[in-house]
Amino acid sequence: MAGLIEVRDLSKRHRARGLHRPGSGVLAVDRVSFSIERGSVFGLVGESGCGKTTLARAVLHLDPPTSGDVLYDGASLSGLPRRALREQRRHMQIVFQDPNGALDPKMRIRDSMEEGLRNLRVPAAERRRRVEELLELVGIPAEHAARWPHEFSGGQKQRIVVARALTMDPDFIVLDEPVSNLDVSIQAQIINLLQDLRARFNLTYLFISHDLHLVAYVSDRIGVMYRGRLVEVAAADPIMARPLHPYTQRLFSSVPDAVTGDAVADGAAGSETPAGDGATDGPGHGRGCPYCGQCGRETSRCREAEPELRDVGGGHLVACWGGLSDIRVDGRPSTSLSRGDDPGRL
Ligand SMILES: Nc1ncnc2c1ncn2[C@@H]1O[C@H](COP(=O)(O)OP(=O)(O)OP(=O)(O)O)[C@@H](O)[C@H]1O
Ligand SMILES: [Mg+2]
Repeated sequence: MAGLIEVRDLSKRHRARGLHRPGSGVLAVDRVSFSIERGSVFGLVGESGCGKTTLARAVLHLDPPTSGDVLYDGASLSGLPRRALREQRRHMQIVFQDPNGALDPKMRIRDSMEEGLRNLRVPAAERRRRVEELLELVGIPAEHAARWPHEFSGGQKQRIVVARALTMDPDFIVLDEPVSNLDVSIQAQIINLLQDLRARFNLTYLFISHDLHLVAYVSDRIGVMYRGRLVEVAAADPIMARPLHPYTQRLFSSVPDAVTGDAVADGAAGSETPAGDGATDGPGHGRGCPYCGQCGRETSRCREAEPELRDVGGGHLVACWGGLSDIRVDGRPSTSLSRGDDPGRL
């Protein structure tokens, strides 16, 4: 079954300031493919700078991809005239990490929320009704619509931002680190709200976070991103039970920081990884596996050729040379593999 969202070989190169040579700049997203079934949650996880936001913006064509395509409900977004793209994008909304940046401090909540509906020429009474209904739905009293953003807490502002996205009656919402800026005590409430809304409106989410445990909690399927590449894609349960890529295993060995709730890699792994550099080169440049030099179990093959994502059974995809030939096609390794084991040792 085709997904509501089909991402095909998507790449995005950020242009370096002042330099306009072809191929210059940061290849932040490098030939990424995945699909999201209607009504499901696809979690995207990876360290800061690995390209998550760049990928999200390219999926929505907020920034045009350098190459590749995105199909929304079977229709390609690439090459659509601007107006048609805007029309399609009504069904696709994005919620960013920082609700303060999302709400204009000089606009009352009601006006911020009505903006999209006004552009669609929805009559005033109907706009008012929808805004108040949605505010109540996300737990904000409707009479607070006349208030200013600064009168709300961070969590309340994020609720308002989510309600504003819903005014457009979307099918698909990208949630880019939607709780990272919030107090730990508030995060669970917002996550629960997002899950309730998904069930109520049969929404499809692309849920982005650097916290694999959180992503695993909310997602049906998970993509693990490293330096612009997807290195592992699988349903949440198998990836939790048996992460196959050494990078995913390292993410799993991270423990939440007691104070911030942020994932902190054990050992020095978090700082040793140049994940923030994006991918530095394209395919066929002899750069080998992007994780080469990090997992400690490289063979000459890892240095010479980049492994592509490949299905090791049951839709569990992994891009790693290590031991893949030993994993049986029914998805079970030929030797027992437990969390933390390295596929290189299989
Ligand atoms: N507008 C831009 N121009 C140039 N380079 C950019 C731009 N935006 C992002 N980058 C670079 O692209 C790479 C990926 O950045 P991106 O913001 O997509 O990562 P991220 O995974 O969302 O990180 P974070 O978890 O910190 O939000 C980084 O190397 C970043 O410096
Ligand atoms: Mg980001």
